[in-house]
Amino acid sequence: MRIHPSFAGIRRIRALATREELFTAEELLDLTLEIAGQTELWRPLIRYATEARWYEALLVSSALELWLIGWTPGQATPIHDHGGASGALTIATGRLVETAHAGPCLTRPRRTILDKGTRVHFPPHHIHRVANEGVVNAASIHADSPAGLEMRLYDGSGTPQRVAAGSASDPAYATESGR
Ligand SMILES: [Fe+2]
Repeated sequence: MRIHPSFAGIRRIRALATREELFTAEELLDLTLEIAGQTELWRPLIRYATEARWYEALLVSSALELWLIGWTPGQATPIHDHGGASGALTIATGRLVETAHAGPCLTRPRRTILDKGTRVHFPPHHIHRVANEGVVNAASIHADSPAGLEMRLYDGSGTPQRVAAGSASDPAYATESGR
């Protein structure tokens, strides 16, 4: 288990970290919305780095990962899934665009604009790309349950590429060019 030092003193966060039961979609949505709304928690931590998308783990337990991500204009994930985990995000500031696909051949792309305060759930095996297509920075809070699953990248061939699971090296939270 790992809790960001800035969050370690918060009873609510410690309770989340010790929970072993998986989180429901609604719980993940509520959790990301709750943290995004507490700007005093994440604003002192957020960084925007033009060389690579900035991200920080707020909490990693067996049942839950919480991430804070800072996006400068033009930054994006590659097309990926979450390894079978259920996930959610809330836009804390700015705007992101999600492009979701119907399957591993990347058919039927569906674009959704996610403005500040928007929360969205990703069911297990959801395949998507998230990007900051705007001209200002954006920040987002992400939650996944369970934690540590092996994520996969997609290139349209229908065969996903497995990538190492977990934490700061997690490709789904790294830069497009870096994977
Ligand atoms: Fe994702």
